[in-house]
Amino acid sequence: MFEEAIDYSIEKVKKGMCSFKDCFPAEESRNNIYLPKEGYSWTEGFWSGMLWLAYEFTKDETYKNLAISQIDIFQRRLDENLGVDNHDLGFLYTLSCVAAYKVTGNKKARETALRAADRLKGRFHEKGQFIQAWGDPNGEENYRLIIDCLLNIPLLYWVSQETGNDEYADIAKRHLKTSLEVAIREDFTTYHTFYFNPKTGERLEGVTHQGYSNDSCWARGQAWAVCGTAFSYAYTKDESLIPVFNGVTECFLSKLPQDNIPYWDMIFTGGEEPRDTSAAAIAACGILEMERYVHNEKFLKSCKSMMESLCTRYLTEEWSNGILKEGMYSKPHGSKPECNIWGDYFFMEALMRCHNPEWKMYW
Ligand code: GLY
Repeated sequence: MFEEAIDYSIEKVKKGMCSFKDCFPAEESRNNIYLPKEGYSWTEGFWSGMLWLAYEFTKDETYKNLAISQIDIFQRRLDENLGVDNHDLGFLYTLSCVAAYKVTGNKKARETALRAADRLKGRFHEKGQFIQAWGDPNGEENYRLIIDCLLNIPLLYWVSQETGNDEYADIAKRHLKTSLEVAIREDFTTYHTFYFNPKTGERLEGVTHQGYSNDSCWARGQAWAVCGTAFSYAYTKDESLIPVFNGVTECFLSKLPQDNIPYWDMIFTGGEEPRDTSAAAIAACGILEMERYVHNEKFLKSCKSMMESLCTRYLTEEWSNGILKEGMYSKPHGSKPECNIWGDYFFMEALMRCHNPEWKMYW
């Protein structure tokens, strides 16, 4: 079943290449069709990452050549400051430039990723000990971290590993520590975002941005926590992360409805609310990464059930240029169930992990 899903995904990437040569798919589809992205977002790297995965699956140079040509676009974004004043530099530059470097040794990709990491590191606040997600670093209204950033910090670990300069990993570890302390509640559910006092660094309150309410548990945020702790463990081998990973993963899995795909917010456990397939794909990658270090039969079995459900119930129809339907970008901001480009990426990454457990991750 997974091999068929790989073929299906590669066909979609091939189809996407006709439309997205010097542009990128939008974050979410419209009626399951991705249109080109206008302006700049946090998501362009996912399309590059899908090209790299398609290349690694097939060894067809067409995918590689397009992904390599995109390095210039990512470089120009840094040169001209285009949509890079945020913490999403990890999402953007890991799957485009770090991936290009890891797969081909491309030097320009390496230099570009190092520059992106400098910018990300520059968003760290000593007062509060965290990387600010959005907005002007001096703006009080945005003095907060968000759980999603756990997927941006692998860029910093990678730079330290690559250059021998520990400063980057140190910032990543400090941000991780703060995030786990403030964003994970006692029952291992998560806050989406958490505010600090910019003058004192005092911890203020957890507030949602894309979830149902401040005290609910946004499904993708929970999935970022599962995947983020696993990826941090991969770099740090810090044993204290294991119980955290176990807690957030157990919590995620315990809230899945019968078909094993979460509702968009885990406050819902039944009924007609939309799902978020992307959250299942992200969590699957986290579980498969952690499985490399700590075997957990129960998590592995649940991961397989999520992947089987995605493959049997949630693949798009032939005419779509997306892969997974019923992702949910942001219900409070008016999103409908659609393909999400990161959902497609993480689904392909999870398939790659099933296909080749030795796969060297881009993160
Ligand atoms: N990082 C933004 C999101 O998960 O929607």
